[in-house]
Amino acid sequence: MSAQTPTHPALSKVLLDENTIKARIRELGAQITSDYAGRRLMVVGVLKGSVIFLADLLRTLGAELDVEVDFVAVSSYAGKNSTGAVRTLLDLRADPEGKDLLLVEDIVDTGLTLASLTETLRAHRPNSLEVCTLLDKPDCRKIPIQPKYVGFRIPNEFVIGYGLDYDERYRQLPVVGVMRT
Ligand code: IMP
Repeated sequence: MSAQTPTHPALSKVLLDENTIKARIRELGAQITSDYAGRRLMVVGVLKGSVIFLADLLRTLGAELDVEVDFVAVSSYAGKNSTGAVRTLLDLRADPEGKDLLLVEDIVDTGLTLASLTETLRAHRPNSLEVCTLLDKPDCRKIPIQPKYVGFRIPNEFVIGYGLDYDERYRQLPVVGVMRT
């Protein structure tokens, strides 16, 4: 992780630049490709925060892998605070029964969203269920849940960019940075 001069007025600090993110995603993709060889992988992106990470991660998976992609959408945040209550806004279209599910998240903070999502998905009886998150804020956990694949562990600060938003803005920034308050 290298701290850099902010590239956008909404950022007080850049935590992860484009090259750092790209290199780590390549490593995650190689690991996932090897772990899921010969299996039926169903990648489930959590809208909307994971879309940029998911798109880049998918392109690093081996062409020989049997991969299906689906999405879920939940809502638990208002501004910078988790509301605690997780609402499902969009459910899976494909049937996950018997498949190896990989849930792709932008960030795990309190763990409430992930705990709720994994409980819902387990009810569909997948063959397996793992989680891949770009960012992990372990200091903020309210529920002891640990994703198998983690891009970067970051401190307890509100971050934006590379898919992550503040009230639906800043998702398009190519870096991950701390939001200026
Ligand atoms: P959790 O339920 O507290 O773990 O929060 C998970 C969700 O909250 C993520 O999928 C994000 O949408 C959002 N979130 C948590 N921390 C941040 C942040 O620092 N920036 C932007 N969104 C965040």
